[in-house]
Parts: sequence; structure tokens; C-alpha cells
Amino acid sequence: MGRTLTGFALGIILTLLVGVAVWLTIAYSGAYNVAATERHADTVRWTLDKTMHSSISSRAGAVALPEDFTEEQVAEGASAYAEYCAHCHGAPGQDPAEWSRGMRPEPPLLVEAASEWSAAEIHWIIDNGLKMTGMPAFGPHHEAEEIMALTAFVSALPGLTSEDYEGMTAGEGGHTHGQDRDGEDGASASASEAAETGNASAPAAEAVDPEDDDAAATSADD
Ligand code: HEC
Repeated sequence: MGRTLTGFALGIILTLLVGVAVWLTIAYSGAYNVAATERHADTVRWTLDKTMHSSISSRAGAVALPEDFTEEQVAEGASAYAEYCAHCHGAPGQDPAEWSRGMRPEPPLLVEAASEWSAAEIHWIIDNGLKMTGMPAFGPHHEAEEIMALTAFVSALPGLTSEDYEGMTAGEGGHTHGQDRDGEDGASASASEAAETGNASAPAAEAVDPEDDDAAATSADD
């Protein structure tokens, strides 16, 4: 009996020592190739993916989401998305930037991938980012309202056409909050006019002159 127990304890210690040896060998030997040009081994990819999904689903949901997102939230989220996300994740009718295809893991095309996640999970991902993937956390330096608008837009993304997206983002000249333009001095006339007459649809929004001083000023208000 005593001998069995001693053998058992020795077995555990040996296993731990082998584990530590493997760990230190990986860290010090340089045998593991960190090049982003090389795909993850299937087991590594599975482990990272499974860990990410389990981690997110056990943490998402702490934030109270509205029952429905408003059209304004989706539209505000669209312009923020165009500025902060589209180069990595693409958008309806728009490929991601070429350099983002050199990332490992490759940022997924959210027009498709967003349908795999609940709104609460999408909110959590945008707010907190994803360690070891290159997905940034937007929570620490963006307003809660903006994170919510991005959540609204990404949740709506799988059903949007490229025309919908163009209509929401055309003439924005970067990231602006639509209502901020109203009530400003005469210089903003063309922007306000476009907003009133065209409901921000593409042709009317194009009436906003990109050289217009005020348009430049509002797009710089980040
Ligand atoms: C620098 C590139 C980059 C930027 C910018 C970026 N992301 Fe990501 N994002 C990633 C990467 C990489 C992943 C992880 C992919 C993986 O592990 O499968 C990811 C994952 C995600 C996921 C989970 C999708 C999935 O199936 O893995 C969502 C949702 C997401 N990002 C939303 C956003 C939003 C919204 C923005 C803008 C506010 C944004 N991302 C900006 C690179 C980026």
C-alpha cells in the first residue's frame, strides 16, 4: 500500500518535471516558429479558438442591452465601424485592407462571422478586445454609447447590402455624430441640408463638399 502511494507520488512529480522541461524548452530553444506567415497547427488553433469562445460566453452578458437597437444607433455604429474596423474585418461590398490578411489569426469577415455571436458577446468583444489575436479593446478609450452603437451595427451586419452600408457611411468624411451638425453656424448649411433632404442617402450625402471647412472641422472632432 505504502509502496503504491510512493510510486503514485513519484509519477506525479515526474510528469510535472517533464511538463516544466517542455515548457522551458519551448520558451528558450526557439523551436516554435512565431512567424505570422505560418498557419497555427490544428491543435493550437483549436485550443485558442475553444478557449476564446468559452471565455467570452462565460463573461458576456454583464452589460444591459436594449431590447431593440434604434436605426440611429445602427447608423452611428456604421460610421464608427468604417473608421475603426473595416480595414481589418471588411464591410458589405468592401474587402479588408491587404495588410490585415497578413495577421495571424486573420481577422474574420464580419459580414459572415458576426452571425455566430450574440449581441452581448459582440459587445464584450468590442469592449474588451481579444488577447493574443490583435483584436483591440475599444472600451478603455471610447464612450459607452459608441461601443453600444458599434454593437448595434455589427449585430445588423449580416443582413446589410453594400447599398445600405454606402447609404449609412457616404459623405461622412470620417467619424461624425450626425446630430452634432445641426444648430451650428452658417458654414454647416450644406451638411444640414444634405441630412434633411436626403435622409443621409448616398446621392444627397455626396452633396457635402469634402473641402467644406465645417465638414473638415467635424471630422476632426475625435
Ligand atoms: C487590427 C485589426 C483589427 C481591428 C482594427 C479590429 N479587429 Fe476585431 N478582430 C481582429 C482579430 C485578429 C480577431 C480574432 C479572430 C480570431 O481569433 O478568430 C477579431 C475578432 C473580432 C470579433 C469576433 C469574430 C470572430 O468570429 O472571431 C468581433 C465581433 C470583432 N473582432 C469586432 C470588431 C469591431 C466591431 C471592430 C471595430 C470597433 C474591430 N473588431 C476592430 C482584428 C481586428
